[in-house]
Amino acid sequence: MNYGPLLFLGILFTLASSWVGLVLMPNRQLGGLTPDTSTNAAGVVVVYPQARPGEAQQGAEIYRSLGCVYCHSQQVRPEGFGSDIERGWGKRRTVSRDYIYDKPVMLGTSRTGPDLTNIGERQPSVEWHLSHLYNPQITSKGSVMPPYPFLFEVRPVGARGPSADALKLSGEHAAPAGFEVVPTAAAKQLVAYLRSLKTSSPLPEAPLPRKGESDDAKSSATATNTPASK
Ligand code: HEC
Repeated sequence: MNYGPLLFLGILFTLASSWVGLVLMPNRQLGGLTPDTSTNAAGVVVVYPQARPGEAQQGAEIYRSLGCVYCHSQQVRPEGFGSDIERGWGKRRTVSRDYIYDKPVMLGTSRTGPDLTNIGERQPSVEWHLSHLYNPQITSKGSVMPPYPFLFEVRPVGARGPSADALKLSGEHAAPAGFEVVPTAAAKQLVAYLRSLKTSSPLPEAPLPRKGESDDAKSSATATNTPASK
């Protein structure tokens, strides 16, 4: 008997159903997400999320090319599903809408370093980020994060004195006498990207946890932990 047509239909059905399940349905659920335009407590309309400015967008490419995503996640789990919010990694859980302007989305799977979802708010200082990238030991002694000295230029101080954006380094990390450490365009773009990572605006599907709720989550977490620790 000729099984050709049956085989053809079987393969067609398998491919069609996986396309519906893996492409069509997710696109229907998430493809139409648009920024939220809620009014905040002060009566001001807040548009969130917003597209990154150009410099930060270029920084996202540098973040990707340097493999920061292998050690840093960008996703905050909901209350009661881990201690992300208690650790201060975010004010609320992250949801699909937070990432609509990210291409590709750099969620990350490993957390050798802290989650960076909200680092722009946690650490807004440009000087801190630049010193940290030049050598993490300057800001975070004992850090296992690798230094990125190639994002900086060590050059002789010009006749008109040190550049305005030269790093203020001292002690063992200081540049040799007569030299200065200046961030390259790539370093500035990367820092612009890091400072643009902010997810503390509430969304209808992810409101900021209320004080009482987080306390409840904590006490229920303790309650479930107690029998296991005995
Ligand atoms: C080998 C793993 C590793 C890689 C790769 C890595 N980091 Fe880190 N990162 C860490 C660790 C560990 C810490 C915590 C200690 C510290 O502050 O240095 C950290 C801390 C940070 C912090 C401060 C976070 C906070 O909450 O204070 C920022 C910002 C950061 N990293 C950015 C980057 C960027 C940008 C890259 C890529 C250029 C990168 N990291 C690559 C491990 C890594």
